[in-house]
Parts: sequence; C-alpha cells; structure tokens
Amino acid sequence: MALRNIITDKDPVLRKKSRVVTEFNERLHTLLDDMAETMYHAEGVGLAAPQVAVLRRAVVIDVGEGIIELINPKIVYESAETIEDSEGCLSSPGEYAMVKRPKKVTVKYQDRFGNHQEITGEGLLARALCHETDHLDGVIFKDLAEYMLEAEER
Ligand code: NI
Repeated sequence: MALRNIITDKDPVLRKKSRVVTEFNERLHTLLDDMAETMYHAEGVGLAAPQVAVLRRAVVIDVGEGIIELINPKIVYESAETIEDSEGCLSSPGEYAMVKRPKKVTVKYQDRFGNHQEITGEGLLARALCHETDHLDGVIFKDLAEYMLEAEER
C-alpha cells in the first residue's frame, strides 16, 4: 500500500466526470488499498478516486464503522427529509460549509470483486455517500453549500 497525493479543488481534474469501472483486477485493488491508507492518513471519513487524480468511479468511506468500498455507486433512494450540517472535504483543506443532504439514502454499487451490493445509510453515512458519489460527477460540496462557515463556527 502507498499514500497517494490528494489534489485540491483548484485542480480541474476534480471537475471531470469519472469513468465506470469494468475491470475488477489487481490494479483496482491496489487503488482501493491506497485510497483507504490515504484517507486514514488524512483523517478523513471518505475519499473518491478523482481526489487522487484517478478518474474512475471508486470510493472509500469510513464513518467509524469500518471501511466501505463502493465501485460504480448509484444513489437509488433519497429520503425527502433532509439534514443541514457542516461538511468539509480533504480536497478543500480548512474550508467548511453548511450543506443540506437527505437524512437517509440507499446506494447500489459493486464491491472490489464486481459483486452487486446495496447499502442504506443515515446521518453521517448518508452524507458521506452523497458527498463521495458527487465527486464522481465533478461536483464538490461547495457547489451545494447553503453558506460557508467561518473558522469560529465550525
Ligand atoms: Ni470530498
């Protein structure tokens, strides 16, 4: 495993749409392992492949319940009820914003072996699932911000 460099939101790569993963091979596993290591090292709760400059639809998340790897994630259900909370991103160091997200989401995805899976998350997990899936379409949390937070508000 190896640490990868996290690009910032000033890099236009983060605005590109990522490609679907079709090969569930050693190369993908190395990417996922590296992404997990990079996320933990940076003390984040989620990381999407474009943040390490790889335009593939792959995401890792750990909101304190263990690692979740999502390949080709697709949100198939969003609750009407939303929660507004502060949010940040490893690609936007030091910046936080209030962002409204669905309270609960269901995501269909593939695991590292290509098996089809489904996960339902609430609260922070729902937020992370939305935030990381957005990265795969070049969307960052600041695009959705109700307003940015000042340092003392975080
Ligand atoms: Ni992010």
